[in-house]
Amino acid sequence: MTINDLDTPALVIDLDVMERNLARVADYAASANLRLRPHTKTHKSPALARRQLELGAAGISVAKTGEAEVMLSAEPKDLLVAYPIVGAQKIERLVRVAGKTSVTLALDSLAAAEPLGRAAEAGDVRFNVLVEVDIGLGRVGVQPKDAPDLAQAIRKIPGLDWRGIAFYPGHIKDGNDARLAELSQTVAGLVHDFRAAGLEPEIVSGGSTPLLFRSHDVAGLNEIRPGTYIFNDLNTIASGACALEDCAASVLATVVSTAIPGQMIIDGGSKTFSSDRLSSGEGGFGRLMEAPGAFFHRMMEEHGFVDLTKAERRFTVGDRVRVIPNHICVAVNLHEVCYGIRGGEVETCWKVEARGRLQ
Ligand SMILES: Cc1ncc(COP(=O)(O)O)c(C=O)c1O
Repeated sequence: MTINDLDTPALVIDLDVMERNLARVADYAASANLRLRPHTKTHKSPALARRQLELGAAGISVAKTGEAEVMLSAEPKDLLVAYPIVGAQKIERLVRVAGKTSVTLALDSLAAAEPLGRAAEAGDVRFNVLVEVDIGLGRVGVQPKDAPDLAQAIRKIPGLDWRGIAFYPGHIKDGNDARLAELSQTVAGLVHDFRAAGLEPEIVSGGSTPLLFRSHDVAGLNEIRPGTYIFNDLNTIASGACALEDCAASVLATVVSTAIPGQMIIDGGSKTFSSDRLSSGEGGFGRLMEAPGAFFHRMMEEHGFVDLTKAERRFTVGDRVRVIPNHICVAVNLHEVCYGIRGGEVETCWKVEARGRLQ
């Protein structure tokens, strides 16, 4: 079967590029002496998590309880839920997950930690806990000055084992030296404050794809959790962490209308690509590999509007294009299946098993 035989829209993954991305980051983490705990929210597929573990990942990360359940089949030695777990149903399910593998939780409150500790005790399991710290994104996490106190309080909760610190530098979109130096200073200060309070953080977990290859410049960091790097996308290119040829994922789409002069419609819109803009807020909704000058500027649910005024070539109904999305993680979540291609051949396909697992 070749790529021309696929129905559209289809999410296609160039296996050679994906393997190169995986190997590059595994090698980087090993050479920088950083534990790699890839975030599986990007691919949502246990088969790919297994590949990351084979290449040396120390564990994996998830955001959702449902993702944790699905990822058990990858047999991770440790599973980090890098999202505050709140609510009885989720806790009950995570206790069951913790009965099967080691589970680590990133938490920023006692309100979240206490019921988890009680449930762990009752279920005869233990949860490792990282104290989540806000290092500038302003999303979750206690302020750095309050983090040691939260760790001390968590240490007193039966059923929980405090292991270290987690943070997510999502506010830094590229390897800008000044921002990186600021981050490094904040993290070093944090580790210093923990030590001054008599606490030794065994795990200091951070690291995103944009900062990936600068992780060794962040003092005290010993674990990284990149997710997007497996496929990359237009945001990763903009961050400077990859080049166009490192983008493994694209959406294969068909031109379904050229009735309006200067424009074509492709058979994918917001339900295929997601409506995410580039992090910079600029640009369109994806880059057409066949004609980078074509401007994919608007979407309805199932229609992609492409302005052809500056396109390098003409298109007719039935033509196919491959589009690299702005933000691959949300695009993957919209697709049931990924098609793995090598050259023009479809070599394999796999179900996106954790797609839609939002609870
Ligand atoms: C908590 C957390 N860790 C790690 C990541 C992975 O970062 P990236 O998508 O830049 O690879 C994310 C991404 O949203 C995240 O929210």
